[in-house]
Amino acid sequence: MLLRSAALLCLASLAAAHSIPQPSAAAQQPSAAAQLSQLLGPVVEGAVSRALAAERAAQQQCAADAGQRALVRLEERLDQLGREVAEMQGALAAGRAAGTERSGEDGGQQPPETPPEERPESGPACERQPLPLPADSSPHEPPERRACARSCLQLRDQGGPQHDGVYWFTGMPVPVLCDFSHDGGGWTLLLTTISQHGWDPFSVRARNKNSPSLTENHSILEYGDVIRNLTEGGRFAYRIEAKAEQGRQRWGGIWFAPRHYSFVDETGAQTDVSLVRRFDDWDYKDNGSNGGMPWINTRGNHAMFPVLTTTTPDSKDWWGTLVTHVSHENEPRRPWISTNPRSSGTVLYWMKENINNV
Ligand SMILES: *[C@@H]1O[C@H](CO)[C@@H](O)[C@H](O)[C@H]1NC(C)=O
Ligand SMILES: *[C@@H]1O[C@H](CO)[C@@H](O)[C@H](O)[C@H]1NC(C)=O
Ligand SMILES: *[C@@H]1O[C@H](CO)[C@@H](O)[C@H](O)[C@H]1NC(C)=O
Repeated sequence: MLLRSAALLCLASLAAAHSIPQPSAAAQQPSAAAQLSQLLGPVVEGAVSRALAAERAAQQQCAADAGQRALVRLEERLDQLGREVAEMQGALAAGRAAGTERSGEDGGQQPPETPPEERPESGPACERQPLPLPADSSPHEPPERRACARSCLQLRDQGGPQHDGVYWFTGMPVPVLCDFSHDGGGWTLLLTTISQHGWDPFSVRARNKNSPSLTENHSILEYGDVIRNLTEGGRFAYRIEAKAEQGRQRWGGIWFAPRHYSFVDETGAQTDVSLVRRFDDWDYKDNGSNGGMPWINTRGNHAMFPVLTTTTPDSKDWWGTLVTHVSHENEPRRPWISTNPRSSGTVLYWMKENINNV
């Protein structure tokens, strides 16, 4: 709700800036807001002042990156706002009725309605401009207030400070590591493999999942689709870096994939992806890789050791493999790209849910 009204104000100033007619609901908003605060009274005084602060912040943000794209988004939010105002008015009416009954001492027909800001669907209070967790803190438990954003990309798009590091986002069951420093920023780390030891089709989905790290084995692949589900356009982006112990943006690239592709696919059939940036000089010249999105190999055949791979399913080759099974532990090659690097080294696998500014 607070976000909505902030967005509305933002829309109003954008509309003025663009000299376009304001939607009629926007014109009604001041009276709706006044009505709401009158009804809610002191119960939500804090909320109202937070809303005003958010509105001011939104106005500043607006001035900074006003544009057609923002305008379209805000228009969509406007529709939601109308619905939420109606909902809240309904809740208020019910709350006042319940209050009247309570004061009569022997009402007791229905439990009183919880005030709107405490209703579960409103969600707990969240941090609009979160800082990453300090390096020496334990990320295992969510902090008192999560980030309002749902992903690294949303955090980037909200402006404010952007520090690489670990965040707890709304709607995400695990902490995630964000990269704002490369390829447009807004990247979420899904997987880090330091060595090939300890991986199988289960651990590749989630391993040390509450300890995101660039320097330790880690996977939250099974939560990749939570962020993918935030995709607004037709495609999302993923990024693979190999030999990451030697530096970033090496021996991999950035791909775009259709929005329905899954990070936990087990078919190997998700091949309609496009390589849009190549890190270092490698090619798909081997027989093994189908060049598609990495898939989890759960087949009990000879090729059991590719665990997360772009290998053609049921092929006898294994090039294009990012993560191998423990049974492959003593095999010197971690067969990533056939000529160079034959061994993947440390692999970092990232995603972001849209393809702008890559
Ligand atoms: C990650 O893999 C390395 C190499 O096998 C191993 O030494 C290390 O203990 C692993 N880390 C975790 C957290 O499992
Ligand atoms: C993503 O969205 C689809 C369609 O709404 C839903 O079925 C699926 O459970 C969601 N996946 C996750 C991981 O949230
Ligand atoms: C592709 O596979 C064929 C048959 O196994 C083999 O002869 C050939 O050398 C392979 N090519 C490459 C580039 O690996």
